[in-house]
Amino acid sequence: MRSAFKWTGVTLGVIVGLIVLGTLSLYGIGQWRLKRKYDIPLQNIALPTDADSLAEGRRIFQYRGCEACHGEQLQGLVYMDNPAIGQVITPNLTTGNGGIGSLRTDAEMARAIRHGIRPDGTPLLFMPSTEFYFLSEEDLEKALAYIRSVPPVDNEMPASQLSFTGFVVMNITGAITFLPAEIIPHEKQAPTAPEPRVTAEYGAYLSMSCKVCHGLTLSGGAITGFPPEWPAAPNLTSGKGSRLPSWGEAGFVELIRTGQKHGRMIGAGYMPWTSYRHMTDDELRAVYLYLMSLPPKDFGNR
Ligand code: HEC
Ligand code: HEC
Repeated sequence: MRSAFKWTGVTLGVIVGLIVLGTLSLYGIGQWRLKRKYDIPLQNIALPTDADSLAEGRRIFQYRGCEACHGEQLQGLVYMDNPAIGQVITPNLTTGNGGIGSLRTDAEMARAIRHGIRPDGTPLLFMPSTEFYFLSEEDLEKALAYIRSVPPVDNEMPASQLSFTGFVVMNITGAITFLPAEIIPHEKQAPTAPEPRVTAEYGAYLSMSCKVCHGLTLSGGAITGFPPEWPAAPNLTSGKGSRLPSWGEAGFVELIRTGQKHGRMIGAGYMPWTSYRHMTDDELRAVYLYLMSLPPKDFGNR
């Protein structure tokens, strides 16, 4: 009897020990991934200074979602505060106190946006550079020119900090991209961005962020890695049951611009139409053209 107890104890001890060891090594791997350096050369960049380019830069900053994450005055926000993952802060991009505006050269800023790394080469957390890697030179330069033109805001905030479990979680889930720099094909030349015209091709260029929620095939479904209380993302292809064809081009423009159409209200807390509404009519038409050109899929074939 005694020895049976003893062996159960030993076995339990070994199991607990293995779990602790496993957790600690996942934590260590997480630390290593966050401290890893990416060697990506800086590129010369010349920023426009004319009023039209700055206004256009502001619009790009808005419809690409930068403003939603970095704040209307670019002052920085608490992007995530979740004990299971940690506290993620978007930096103050201005030259005020606590801002990185005066600490970064234009080339460092541009590299951060495209490649998701800090000046020392370490990866940024959650900054969606996987999408911005494909931005055209002109769009990137205008957005950056706008960032450089905003008045300084004093806002000092702590640096982003993953929690212990955050370091572990980042190694066991593929559903959330903690470090976009890890999946960007840095060495490859990014494809040339399409001409800004009402084409499905340009629509695809404008719709990269939609895939995060509506899925890679844009057929919608439950959004992986998001809180369970979120509604499923609707089907954005013209497959069976999709509302997309029923909006029509003008209706689609109105829906994204105002968040509602035919009595359908889209929850802005879920679907970031408040960013996308800054697209021009032609840009939204291009998005609609692109979505309507997709192979029709049944709902949820992500
Ligand atoms: C989904 C939210 C999100 C969006 C959208 C977003 N950012 Fe960020 N950005 C972040 C976070 C989070 C960080 C800081 C990450 C960290 O602390 O590791 C960051 C960091 C940065 C940095 C700082 C890099 C450095 O050198 O420290 C710059 C510059 C930046 N973002 C610019 C932009 C621009 C321009 C856009 C739009 C084209 C944009 N961001 C869109 C979340 C976002
Ligand atoms: C952060 C996640 C997220 C992103 C990014 C996102 N959406 Fe959505 N979208 C949703 C959710 C969730 C809903 C459903 C909201 C509701 O039911 O209130 C929705 C609803 C919609 C609807 C209404 C569809 C219908 O049939 O009722 C359209 C149209 C739409 N999104 C288009 C887009 C486009 C175009 C993009 C990219 C330019 C995009 N979404 C990006 C989450 C997202």
